[in-house]
Amino acid sequence: MSLLVEEIEPKMPLRKKVVIIGGGVIGLSIGWQLAKNSFDVTIYDRNWAGQGASWAAAGMLSPRAEVHMQASDLLQLGLASAELYPEWVGELESDSQISVDYRTHGTLMVSLDRDDQAELEHHYSMQLALDLPVEWLTGAEAREIEPYLSPRVTSAVSCKKDFQVDNRLMVQALIQAFEKFGGNLLQQTPVCKIEIQNEKAIGIRVEEKFIEADLIVLSAGCWSSQIEGLPDWARPPVRPVKGQMIAVRMDVPTILQHVIYAPDAYLAPKSDGRLLIGATCEEQGFNTNITAGGMFELLRGAWEVLPSVYELPIDETWVGLRPGSRDNAPILGKTQINNLIMATGHYRQGILLTPVTCREISSLIMTDQPSSLIAPFMLERFV
Ligand code: GLY
Repeated sequence: MSLLVEEIEPKMPLRKKVVIIGGGVIGLSIGWQLAKNSFDVTIYDRNWAGQGASWAAAGMLSPRAEVHMQASDLLQLGLASAELYPEWVGELESDSQISVDYRTHGTLMVSLDRDDQAELEHHYSMQLALDLPVEWLTGAEAREIEPYLSPRVTSAVSCKKDFQVDNRLMVQALIQAFEKFGGNLLQQTPVCKIEIQNEKAIGIRVEEKFIEADLIVLSAGCWSSQIEGLPDWARPPVRPVKGQMIAVRMDVPTILQHVIYAPDAYLAPKSDGRLLIGATCEEQGFNTNITAGGMFELLRGAWEVLPSVYELPIDETWVGLRPGSRDNAPILGKTQINNLIMATGHYRQGILLTPVTCREISSLIMTDQPSSLIAPFMLERFV
């Protein structure tokens, strides 16, 4: 006598099917945690995963140095993410078996003349008022810890807790960790449309094919507003903000350990000898030209604080498009369309904000509990 399969095998609960649109560090990290917790996750990337803003970034984790660029809620989010970093990196490195070069030398903001110094003093008083762990240094004190800084450096603020990571290694580690837990990564596979029925996201269209999903996460960086299907009010207002970058190559051991914020450029030394110099900030739409003026400004800005840059071979030049929202803060959390979650618009802070976005969005999906940390960043603030 034959038994029906259901009679001999207990029914497995269906795994929730999540589609993530965009395989940058935000989409990959959420996917990693969901796959690890037994969700059925597919990430679609229009190009190669992690090759957009995630690849172009410099990997600086600087909520304290960039305090002037952000409102209080965003600073709190950045500080929370910085706090999560060591443990988050530990888990990622253990799951992926890839080291992401998390460096804890700190950040120095430097001035070169009286005007810069006045600005730096103002910045420093703002940091002190916020009780951030920072220290004022004379030029000589700054050169004691970074001997190759220019004699022209008049003063510095040491942001001892502002660290850095190698964002490109982080991309590789996230892909590895995501796939290790069964995540499905579909690259060069643009999602054309999100299908909505009765104010509920029910799936996506890839070319003409409909793919059903229980939940959709939109994390497509500066392309997030271009996916069809969303009503105008639900399209995240994200635009591309062009950043040109250049890397020179130092000998190892390197001539610089700290991240340097100079008046006209920042410098991020990586353990493999690359010195990343960034970045322009241009409202040029999707233009990705590398310009002589952009390169000139960056090299001059770097050379002024670190004259040895003059001798170093150029390793690479590139352009990234930061996803900037209307208020330059990220767009996070549920929307008024059921089963559609936003995790986009991280602008200059995508790498910094990855752990907190990963934790808050994946736990929102797993527990359905609202998060007070991301409440100020919901799409509805623009509606
Ligand atoms: N996070 C630095 C930049 O966007 O240039």
